[in-house]
Amino acid sequence: RLLGTVGAAGAAGLVVGGAGGAAGVSAAQDDAPKALSTLGSTKVPFRPARAGHQAGITTPLQAKGHLVAFDLAPGSDRKDAAALLRRWSRTAEELMAGRAPDADTGVALDAGPSSLTVTFGFGHSFFGRTGLTKRRPLELDPLPDFSADALDPKSSNGDLWIQIGADDALVAFHALRALQKDAAGRARLRWQMNGFNRTPGATAHPMTTRNLMGQIDGTNNPKPSDQDFDERIFVGRDADQAWMRGGSYAVVRRIRMLLDDWEKRSRHDQERVIGRRKDNGAPLTGGSEGTPMRLDANGPDGMPVIPANAHARIAAPESNQGAAMLRRPFSYHDGFREDGAPDAGLLFICWQADPLRAFTQVQRKLDRGDALSPFLRHEASGLFAVPPAAEPGDYVGRPLLE
Ligand code: HEM
Repeated sequence: RLLGTVGAAGAAGLVVGGAGGAAGVSAAQDDAPKALSTLGSTKVPFRPARAGHQAGITTPLQAKGHLVAFDLAPGSDRKDAAALLRRWSRTAEELMAGRAPDADTGVALDAGPSSLTVTFGFGHSFFGRTGLTKRRPLELDPLPDFSADALDPKSSNGDLWIQIGADDALVAFHALRALQKDAAGRARLRWQMNGFNRTPGATAHPMTTRNLMGQIDGTNNPKPSDQDFDERIFVGRDADQAWMRGGSYAVVRRIRMLLDDWEKRSRHDQERVIGRRKDNGAPLTGGSEGTPMRLDANGPDGMPVIPANAHARIAAPESNQGAAMLRRPFSYHDGFREDGAPDAGLLFICWQADPLRAFTQVQRKLDRGDALSPFLRHEASGLFAVPPAAEPGDYVGRPLLE
């Protein structure tokens, strides 16, 4: 069984650690340690052969993630930004192929690419700084305030955004450092968030990941095989801003979970908050994880089996004129707060062709009081335009920056 594989990835270039290189290699061949899995050797292409979207959107969730936002250095202009994106693209392509960049730190030396993805986006403020306001898509208009927001502006938004994901923590850190060094003198780090997901292979068979509340999270995501997937997630060919065609918009929210409160609730109560079972993710109306929710089913007491304020009911496309987004989050744990509560939750990232008709529409409804909201605090927010992948020989964002 291949662990942590992605569509286009091959099992080629299997990396076997340890022995080799030393004298007597051929005699020792049979004794050479065998790779435990193909997790390390799995590559995600920087320039996807067909789809033209950047990696890290439909790529299966990786075990480790870093989200970083940068602001352009004072006095930087469009040309400086273009030089930075050209350099970042080159580094990302090298690293995703498993090659070390120039002046390497050596942190990832023995590992394969481990499904590394590097995804680049532009924030609202980028366009003013670079004299490109006319090229700013309307979709980047700031998100509205929501009543329950407790946002820290210093950890929100930013001119440029990078999402890094990999199935190995050292590979992910290595990429983060390389990209940060590339930015020296051109852009300054604004904020950084570190997250994680289940390691591929940790469960007996591939499963939807769990979040830190213990729920199976990601079940009812749009699937690439859905007929309307591309239309919902990726910017269409007729978009006003031609440079965004084939791109997507990422909404990033750092959502702290009030775990001390949550964990006091019985499993029964917790399941009613979402509308799904905790053990297998099945809807409370029965079946297994993949069974559709029956939102109109009533119990013997005449009340809806999936409560009226259940998170999955309120967030579902059926309750939001079809609005849908691709949720691709990482969990986070940044130690403990002064009151002893864990500083932990979800780095919620969702992808859509139009944030107003997807994230914003759904979050407006959740904000009016779904059953999950009392256990959450939205602490940081970002909205980024993520252009399509670079053409061969090109860099991400060139059609905007040239
Ligand atoms: C569904 C958890 C925040 C949108 C779900 C499910 C869980 C969950 C367990 C059911 C399984 C699934 O279909 O994935 C959480 C947690 C959150 C959070 C723990 C915060 C820490 C949000 C936010 C949005 C959102 C901010 C969007 C504004 C959705 C959608 C679904 C969903 C669209 C699928 C509903 C359906 O079609 O059945 N969430 N969620 N969630 N959530 Fe959330």
